[in-house]
Amino acid sequence: MTAGIASVALRPGADLDGFRAAARGLIADHVPPRDVVWSDEGEAGLFGVPHSACEPRPLMLPKGAAQLIATVVCHRDPERHALLYGLIWRLVHGEKDLLEIACDPLVHRLQRMAKSIHRDLHKMHAYVRFRRLDTAQGARYVAWFEPDHWIVAATARFFVDRFRGMDWAILTPRGSLHWDKETLSLGPPATRAEAAPSDDFEKRWLDYYESIFNPARLNPHVMRGHMAVKYWKNLPEAAAIPRLIREAPSRVQQMIDRESQMPVKRNPDKAVAAMTDQGPASLDALNRQILESDPPEPFSPRAVLGEGPVGAAVALVGEQPGDQEDLAGRPFVGPAGQLLDAALEEAGISRRDVYITNAVKNFKFKLVGKRRIHQTPTAGEIKHHRWWLQRELEFVRPRVVVALGASATQAVAGKAMPVLKNRGPTDAFGVWPGVITVHPSSLLRTPDPAAQAAAFRAFVDDLRQARELVQRA
Ligand code: URA
Repeated sequence: MTAGIASVALRPGADLDGFRAAARGLIADHVPPRDVVWSDEGEAGLFGVPHSACEPRPLMLPKGAAQLIATVVCHRDPERHALLYGLIWRLVHGEKDLLEIACDPLVHRLQRMAKSIHRDLHKMHAYVRFRRLDTAQGARYVAWFEPDHWIVAATARFFVDRFRGMDWAILTPRGSLHWDKETLSLGPPATRAEAAPSDDFEKRWLDYYESIFNPARLNPHVMRGHMAVKYWKNLPEAAAIPRLIREAPSRVQQMIDRESQMPVKRNPDKAVAAMTDQGPASLDALNRQILESDPPEPFSPRAVLGEGPVGAAVALVGEQPGDQEDLAGRPFVGPAGQLLDAALEEAGISRRDVYITNAVKNFKFKLVGKRRIHQTPTAGEIKHHRWWLQRELEFVRPRVVVALGASATQAVAGKAMPVLKNRGPTDAFGVWPGVITVHPSSLLRTPDPAAQAAAFRAFVDDLRQARELVQRA
């Protein structure tokens, strides 16, 4: 420190504690911003913070300032500390409403920096891709990501909450995160070479991504908006995108050419299975009764029954059969079914071992030209089919019931429950330990492959939780 000039060396990166301590000392000593030289090349614990003559007190800053400081300190701009100290100085020297003056050049610049941090956080949440490494201690997942700013520590909570049950590391040139299912540690910057090579999950994800890619929804401009091209190089699905874009027009034509067939309406002269006061005596009797029901339009007359072994440990409940299920007479054989199969496999669950059924047994649709467009069943329709579902589950006797989406959750719980708020293990399913998760078709509706990949992983996580519940049940 030369006479009159305070030099402050903070740790490289986002050193919020160091910056706060330095700012407090400087304010206590009345050192104006023009007399401070900031650098972020200090060693851990070796701060060039001038020792204040008086004990520095916490700074009394107006609402919003602490958050702005905690955010902007993550920015890569080497001037960030000088700018933030300039802000603090003005806030405590008579400009306490400064943050409300959006056109003030300093406030404007800091707000833009904060925005850039938020964008970077969002991208890291969406684009981190783990690769699996099989080690002597079990599976370990390693991801490589290149953030624009010093945000690695700020994303830790998000990744721990999302992947709590996995052993993982996220490596970046701006530091790394390591989680061993119990403890989080922050590590030094890493290089791409330290990240794991491509794994089987990635290959399966790529196959799966190609199979669900909907060329009719293709809008390359929107896709690029969702996923800046600079992130593509670290995304496995990006390798397939240029070809999928090229092939999109011919795939759309194939979809149009594939005419939807209406199922033949059965003889409505139904012989409803004999019912005792207690209802059907077996799953077969129940199924006969379901097949012989004759739902009114707009439902398809063909019921699609549940499928899988009686006594299966896990029962999966969907909403209703779709167009392809209605034609095939089997649940989950269309695009949502393919996605469900991939997720089950990823979660280590064999489809052959689970019982799969739907809350509503008949496809509800609206005819638009030649296409049968899915219609969501109403609460009344779900309630109407609920009696069957309850009997069905009683016959199957699963140890855990997984509800896929809102209609299934409503059917099993007997009341509407927002899926995202209640996602995960639940005790709302009466006698059955349950898991609430999204419907796989919700993953098909987003055009953004990165968000789709993240949602797929979260869906797999939910299925893994069902498997763990079985082990505990
Ligand atoms: N969606 C469902 O909910 N069930 C099916 O069987 C297929 C798609």
